[in-house]
Amino acid sequence: MRRKFVAGNWKMNGSLESANALVKALVASVGSSPAADVVICPPFIHLHSVAGLVKDSGISLGAQNLSDQEAGAYTGEVSGAMLKDVGCEYVIIGHSERRSLYGEDDALVCKKFLHARVHGLTPILCVGESLEERESGAMEAVIASQIDAVLAAAGVEALCDSVIAYEPVWAIGTGMTATPEQAQEVHAFIRSRIAAVDAAAAAKVRILYGGSANADNAATLFAQPDIDGGLIGGAALKAEDFVTICEAAA
Ligand code: PGA
Repeated sequence: MRRKFVAGNWKMNGSLESANALVKALVASVGSSPAADVVICPPFIHLHSVAGLVKDSGISLGAQNLSDQEAGAYTGEVSGAMLKDVGCEYVIIGHSERRSLYGEDDALVCKKFLHARVHGLTPILCVGESLEERESGAMEAVIASQIDAVLAAAGVEALCDSVIAYEPVWAIGTGMTATPEQAQEVHAFIRSRIAAVDAAAAAKVRILYGGSANADNAATLFAQPDIDGGLIGGAALKAEDFVTICEAAA
């Protein structure tokens, strides 16, 4: 049985005050031993403060990005060691906004994936196709190449030690959620792709759905056999909605 996993990706939203208020509300509702793994990923600048508030709670801390470099003259970057030092256990890697807006390709995604693991951070590796890719029939090829890149760079054990998030680009922040059947089809495809290398590892890796998941649709998405939870954007900014989603995963 794979334990369900819900991660909140706060993106570039909020103030120190609103971040602290949100996390206090979550800690009060989620409690110390939730039935699913619960992770929140605030902006870098709020990590330290939020880390103090989630300490001794059932909520773990993640970052939204990291550098591929260890240390040195990389203005504006944040290393894996820094994230670990501040209390992060997870880091989102290869989010489609990083891929499309900041030019992150599979090679860089793989370097970040390896860098995260060196520092004991668990990657939440995002993959997903654009609407154009889906409509032109390239969806499976796109996702396969994103998965295969990390398989080749890090190996099947490292990939399956991480968490994978399937996020169709056309569903992110658009209100156009993939149907549970559409999402399940891709999740099963990802798992089978990994199973071709190592069936036992593929059976244990958690694959999250992300893209306009919310308090209303989470339960039906999470009921699909290969959907092991969600990577939640907009709905993670409202304590009540995020708690409902965590409960749907329990
Ligand atoms: P959304 O974002 O839930 O707001 O669609 C999900 C994500 O980008 O991780």
